[in-house]
Amino acid sequence: MLATFATEHRVHLICDEIYAGSVFAKPEFVSIAEVIDDVPGCNRDLIHIAYSLSKDFGLPGFRVGIIYSYNDAVVSCARKMSSFGLVSSQTQHFLAAMLSDAAFMTRFLEESAARLAARHDRFTSGLREVGIGCLRGNAGLFSWMDLRGMLRDATPEAELELWRLIIHKVKLNVSPGTSFHCGEPGWFRVCHANMDDDTMEVALDRIRRFVRQHQHQKAKAERWATSSRGKQLRLSMPRRGAVTAASFFALSTPMGLQSPQSPMVPAS
Ligand SMILES: Cc1ncc(COP(=O)(O)O)c(C=O)c1O
Repeated sequence: MLATFATEHRVHLICDEIYAGSVFAKPEFVSIAEVIDDVPGCNRDLIHIAYSLSKDFGLPGFRVGIIYSYNDAVVSCARKMSSFGLVSSQTQHFLAAMLSDAAFMTRFLEESAARLAARHDRFTSGLREVGIGCLRGNAGLFSWMDLRGMLRDATPEAELELWRLIIHKVKLNVSPGTSFHCGEPGWFRVCHANMDDDTMEVALDRIRRFVRQHQHQKAKAERWATSSRGKQLRLSMPRRGAVTAASFFALSTPMGLQSPQSPMVPAS
């Protein structure tokens, strides 16, 4: 369908197949290279594939990528450009040996898929325990975690506020959906594949504790709202100096979502 669209509208189709070897559940990966023969009248000059060893093989530091194009002009240009980013002969030698070892490659990709599946299951089921859902995924190193229910309001600003809180208080480096142009605030991309099992459990525990704390604060705020409904409200300020960082953090908003960037956060 994409190839037909590209041909009809004369636009280039660049397929980023960087997660081709990180599929851990059905449906299986199908490369554009496998289907273009079946696309009637497909203009191959418009089809290009990008790949890298960074994800499937966990080798981002090698800085090795691949451009596979059916367009001779693109291949010729890429070849010339590659002289600006040559990889060492040792790297080339190592990768040639690895990629041509069919038995190793089969074993590696099978084992990697099994581990990714196990990690994905563990992470998503761990989050489910505290009522946090994730988008269903079948490939890659990431989960999309749904924290929409924790936003102050459904805006990109509120998402970034929550993101800062996660960075500074929970001490986890997750990516806000806005940085990927996600149209709906509240989704966060979590890489769950680049650490050992113990570290993943620590991260999971921290997220769960954070979510539970939030749920507790929210329930408290709702109870307070219900019980005070109809009562005459009186503003009562704490004594000067009586506000600890912890109590300020917990009570400064009904949801406990004080931005760490706020000038009102007490200096520590
Ligand atoms: C979809 C996708 N394409 C390409 C890249 C770039 O990979 P590399 O580290 O090899 O430049 C990334 C890395 O995050 C990615 O997620």
